[in-house]
Amino acid sequence: MVIIIGSQKGGVGKSTIAVNLCTVLAHQGKDVILVDSDRQSSSSNWAEDRAEDPDLPKVNFVQKYDNLRATLKDLNSRYEYVIVDAAGRDSKELRTGLVAANILLMPVRPSQFDLDTIPTMQEMVAEVREELNPELKFKAVLSMAATNPVIHEADEAEKYLQDCEDIELLKVVICERKVYRDSIYAGRGMGAIEMDNTKAKVEMNKLVKELFV
Ligand SMILES: Nc1ncnc2c1ncn2[C@@H]1O[C@H](COP(=O)(O)OP(=O)(O)OP(=O)(O)O)[C@@H](O)[C@H]1O
Ligand SMILES: [Mg+2]
Repeated sequence: MVIIIGSQKGGVGKSTIAVNLCTVLAHQGKDVILVDSDRQSSSSNWAEDRAEDPDLPKVNFVQKYDNLRATLKDLNSRYEYVIVDAAGRDSKELRTGLVAANILLMPVRPSQFDLDTIPTMQEMVAEVREELNPELKFKAVLSMAATNPVIHEADEAEKYLQDCEDIELLKVVICERKVYRDSIYAGRGMGAIEMDNTKAKVEMNKLVKELFV
């Protein structure tokens, strides 16, 4: 199964979600590979750091740019889960990756600027579905939401996304938590479930459960 974490928007938590998905799946004993298609190399740097700690369940990774289609098809035949970290824009990697993907997971930050980019993603998915990959699933998850209950931005974004008929909004909400940064910080190469934070663990386990039902 090929899952692309993609969005038109930068800094929404794509790489964070990609590496955390890989971590949860690795702990479940699944055969998983991370594909970093962003030249910033955030997630492949994480995977390199991780590989240096023999106590952490292994996450294989490759870097692949430009046209991803053939690579993803090949990896899909060899791995149970192929997790693709896409660059934060309308890239060739994202478009060619969607052709070979089962699921596009779009992280959305609860802010108007982020919501404004959704129609472009909807158009892109519609084109891919129409021409090349009619089975592509389009899922969204709220990302980096405030933990402060007084801030209702996530509720508003939720309402907006629920009205998008072509998008399946996941129930889990990923909050802004320092542990997501700490797990990656200073070459640790870890996922949030490997840190001592129950709330992040619950979020990531729920995310995996909901994505792969
Ligand atoms: N849920 C979260 N809680 C706290 N910090 C987060 C969370 N998700 C991401 N971050 C932090 O926010 C920043 C941007 O996240 P990330 O790199 O995952 O986004 P991205 O969408 O991959 O960005 P880009 O478009 O540049 O590739 C990073 O510093 C990351 O550690
Ligand atoms: Mg990234």
